[in-house]
Amino acid sequence: MPYADEPFSLVIFGASGDLTHRKLMPALWSLYAARTLPEPFAIIGTARSEMSDEAYRTRARESVTRFARLKIPSQHVWDRFAGSLYYVPGDPTSPELYGRLKQRLEQIETARGGPRNRLFYCATPPSLYDDIVANLGAAGLARVEGGWTRIIVEKPFGRDLESARALNRQITGVFAEEQVYRIDHYLGKETVQNILVFRFANGIFEPVWNRNHVAEVQITVAETIGVEGRGSYYEESGALRDMVQNHMLQLLCLIAMEPPVTFDAGPVRDEKNKVMHAIRPIDPAKVDEVALRAQYGPGYVDGRPVPGYRQEKGVKPDSTTETFAALRLEIDSWRWAGVPFYLRTGKRLAKRVSEIAIRFRRTPHMIFRRDPAGVEPNLLAIRIQPDEGISLTVVAKEPGPDLKLAPVTLDFKYGEVFGAEPPEAYERLLLDAIHGDATLYARGDWVEQAWALLEPVLEAWSRTPAALPTYEAGSWGPPEADAFIARDGGAWRQP
Ligand code: BG6
Repeated sequence: MPYADEPFSLVIFGASGDLTHRKLMPALWSLYAARTLPEPFAIIGTARSEMSDEAYRTRARESVTRFARLKIPSQHVWDRFAGSLYYVPGDPTSPELYGRLKQRLEQIETARGGPRNRLFYCATPPSLYDDIVANLGAAGLARVEGGWTRIIVEKPFGRDLESARALNRQITGVFAEEQVYRIDHYLGKETVQNILVFRFANGIFEPVWNRNHVAEVQITVAETIGVEGRGSYYEESGALRDMVQNHMLQLLCLIAMEPPVTFDAGPVRDEKNKVMHAIRPIDPAKVDEVALRAQYGPGYVDGRPVPGYRQEKGVKPDSTTETFAALRLEIDSWRWAGVPFYLRTGKRLAKRVSEIAIRFRRTPHMIFRRDPAGVEPNLLAIRIQPDEGISLTVVAKEPGPDLKLAPVTLDFKYGEVFGAEPPEAYERLLLDAIHGDATLYARGDWVEQAWALLEPVLEAWSRTPAALPTYEAGSWGPPEADAFIARDGGAWRQP
């Protein structure tokens, strides 16, 4: 059913920051250019720097020109979009700003008429979330008569269980849970959404999607970039907090969840929570058996020499922050008992690739005795980026008089089949929040459960900061990572 096109106002805190520049403004523009953004709308940026509406519009144009999926077709179309951009300078910790924001919102709403729909976006450093939420509440901006009010909160959502709980308490003390949209941009990626369509709109996979047929699942999110000027943020974070607690556990949930009764926020998020509850808790005394970390040293990426993590700007020369993390998780449920889920992520790895690989069990009996070597178990690879697609490896007979077996791949590539570049994750997610659909957002209890799961690892790693292997930038991680998976008799896939 198409959504009603109602007017709305979006207030972005952190409007002069990197996220707004690289992701939010370009996404809003692309939605507008594709005629999917409800109209009329107003986008009010706010940050500490002094700027006029005009200067903000110029800045927005730079963001769009550099980063948006869709180009600006003409000055006229840009002017129409830019005419809805406003800027209100101010200190987000000061109540005074909120009075002015309220005034501006009311002016805009009175001028355009219709419902008073408001979306607030926290795109600031997380240390400001508390202030923003409290001030919105105190200014009477958490609810409005004659419209909806919602708030999007960026990651990181806390830095451990305790801080995530405190943040949840703080936010839900001011907003109702249904008003809160905790963003995880991985959930907005086309191929990630496709996992559910692939699993639940096709009848042939569900019967084999369990311990009887699946031998193991590997989830890899490998990046070639380093910390890219975010050294001081990353020092406080590390790979486990930055990637595993959110993006990777979300992917795991989508692969492991039971079929929800409908594709709606409630049922989908309930099923993901059940997975989180079924993941076997990590024994604090045995963290080393299920978790591994490492840090990149100098090396070569795409033939270029690159510095080690400790040489990056904003990073301590003796830093023990991990830039690589691997986990072995098990899900104690009828569907998954005994199937290992391996998660691996790192910066400055050999290749940029995010992929989920599902390796099936071998055939129970091999009749082709003369060439058993050619018989690899079937493998389903869901490629999230780049080269989005899905491939299934099966065994076929090589042409010729001999009975030689060889693996072949049945390949579906998004780009080849659907052509056009898929929308950016932020486009989809912003639009969902505007339409009030939280299916692709993280619920508060899920976030807490994810922190609770990783708590023993975070604690063990902070107790023994020195025990940190290094890997060469541009490699697939430390040799210890191979030994980690080899203990089970397996090997990492090299996608
Ligand atoms: C972010 C992390 O959440 O995700 C970054 O903070 C990481 O460190 C990024 O680089 C990866 O996102 P994508 O969409 O490029 O895979």
